[in-house]
Amino acid sequence: KLADLKGLKSGHFRLGVITTAKYFAPEILGAFCDQFPGIDVSLKVTNRERIIERMAASDDDLYIFGEPAHAGLDVEATFLAPNPLIVLARTDHPLVGQSGITMERLAKERFLLREPGSGIRDSIVRRFAEQGLRPNVRMELGSNEAIKHAIIAGLGISALSLHTLTLDGGAGRLAMLDVEGFPIERTWYLVHPKGRDLSTIAKAFLAFAVDREREITASLERTYDLLRAPSAG
Ligand code: PGA
Repeated sequence: KLADLKGLKSGHFRLGVITTAKYFAPEILGAFCDQFPGIDVSLKVTNRERIIERMAASDDDLYIFGEPAHAGLDVEATFLAPNPLIVLARTDHPLVGQSGITMERLAKERFLLREPGSGIRDSIVRRFAEQGLRPNVRMELGSNEAIKHAIIAGLGISALSLHTLTLDGGAGRLAMLDVEGFPIERTWYLVHPKGRDLSTIAKAFLAFAVDREREITASLERTYDLLRAPSAG
């Protein structure tokens, strides 16, 4: 199919993604641009609420986010890759290395939470609420990177997508906690409103991205390995 599209010489493609997809979307776009060098691409990265607003306003051609049904949206959604949410602490935190940590225990820790509108925030708050609990929020921060730095600075613990660690596995400064009910297994989908025709470029990108699922999953496996490496513990 993709071969038919080799004639794609020019045009513009706009992709809108939630924050955790910025750790992989550029790689997909880079490879896509190699194949179709005449195409201009733009990438918008923001939180779930804003991405959904952008989709309502038709700001981009295609979107990457999760749980489209939760948002009550009438969309076409194509599975792209897993997006697991793991609990992270600084490597010298007393809970590091313990197994089967309960949510009750976790609720006693100072927690760093993303801003309202974040899908990660909603997932975490929901998981606590399922146990009749609430996170003990120490601070709200507007980015995954800020949360990583705040954990390292000793401000508290948090839960983030494993994708936020794919480059360095936490660089030996972040450790994954073994908490009951985690990882929260979430998923990325390629999404567009139902009934809206995709451009030829957007269709080509969709097929191209879906083909990279193995690569994305392999990168998650490598990241789990990095986190489990002795130097990280
Ligand atoms: P968020 O979404 O930036 O809205 O938290 C990221 C995610 O769901 O992985």
